[in-house]
Amino acid sequence: MGVKSIFIKTFGCVQNVADSERIKAYYWNGGWTEAEDWRCCQLIVINTCVVRESAENRVYGFINEINKYKKTSGKEIKVVLTGCLVNTKSRQRITGVDQVIQTDKISLKLKPLRGAGAALVPISNGCNNHCSYCIVPKARGQERSRKMEEIMEEVCEAIRNGFKEIVLIGQNVNSYGADLDNSESLVSMGKKRVKSMFPKLLEKVAKLPIEKISFVSSNPWDFSDELIEVISRYKNINRLIHLPLQSGDDDILKRMNRGYTAKEYVELTRRITKKIDGAKFSTDIIVGFPGEDEEAFLNTAKVCEQVGFEVAYLNKYSPRRGTVSAKLYRDDVPQAEKRRRWRILDNLINKKVTGKSEHR
Ligand code: SAH
Ligand code: SF4
Ligand code: F3S
Repeated sequence: MGVKSIFIKTFGCVQNVADSERIKAYYWNGGWTEAEDWRCCQLIVINTCVVRESAENRVYGFINEINKYKKTSGKEIKVVLTGCLVNTKSRQRITGVDQVIQTDKISLKLKPLRGAGAALVPISNGCNNHCSYCIVPKARGQERSRKMEEIMEEVCEAIRNGFKEIVLIGQNVNSYGADLDNSESLVSMGKKRVKSMFPKLLEKVAKLPIEKISFVSSNPWDFSDELIEVISRYKNINRLIHLPLQSGDDDILKRMNRGYTAKEYVELTRRITKKIDGAKFSTDIIVGFPGEDEEAFLNTAKVCEQVGFEVAYLNKYSPRRGTVSAKLYRDDVPQAEKRRRWRILDNLINKKVTGKSEHR
């Protein structure tokens, strides 16, 4: 029998990239090699994302292409489906799949086959927040934190393997440890005041010989003073802090169930920049959330100007079946308007075009 070859296609965020590195390790250990082209392999693993309709459509597009190719070529290619789609209703729409793997069955104990650059180290999986637009808690379940020793072991292994940069990843990294036995935990600020061991974990990692440590994503309501303090004390913690804003309008933030006001968000960034030399911010924003009128949008643009983000990941609102916002609100901002708002913020933040006349 010839060499067994596999192709892993990864959609979505760093969480999926990290999972794919473990899936790859699993098959490598079983004697598989990687195919350059999926048409030449015996097995395709599709690691899916459903965060927006466009992401989901890319998955369907790929699967259709595979099914068509299998039909015309007569080749036998097995298809394994994993990732965020497998736990949603969308799963029923897919045909031609031989095996389904739940994301939480992907063992974190496997030593990942990492790509170049930074080592991605998962610290938790799932999310306990209820942002009204978001399918991730449904797709990935409740937040489950990894044991600190296990995380530290993985970080040390990455260092031994020559990695200079570590990214701690989770849907809400700064609520890390709320579900663990956390007698030594610190209490986070914000209205929700969840207990978190994240400052402690971050400090332990920062003490190791690593050039740069980043973390994604952290949420404004869990960004405690203890966390700010730890970042300020360790120069190897990335000064570019990812802090998703989503909207700068209080009514929209409320409908999104984000748990902070625009003012509280801006004040938090001020508190951070005051304590941390050289702190800068990147963010995620959704444009065209239901009910976002021109005034609400301009409030978002205003916060962007006040904070002066380095970079923003801009997303057009996409109603997701099973989420609260899809149930409660009509998707009432036309596509063309979503695109216009997207472009304005892209120019303002990512291209640094001041163009104030455009949105005033
Ligand atoms: N846990 C992270 C990332 C969540 S998904 C966080 O809280 O920031 C990544 C981004 O996708 C989100 O920050 C949000 O901007 C965007 N997003 C999530 N659901 C969306 C939806 N239904 N429509 C448009 N964008 C969405
Ligand atoms: Fe989704 Fe909110 Fe959780 Fe992020 S914090 S994954 S946006 S529910
Ligand atoms: Fe990530 Fe997409 Fe899942 S953004 S957590 S892969 S739905």
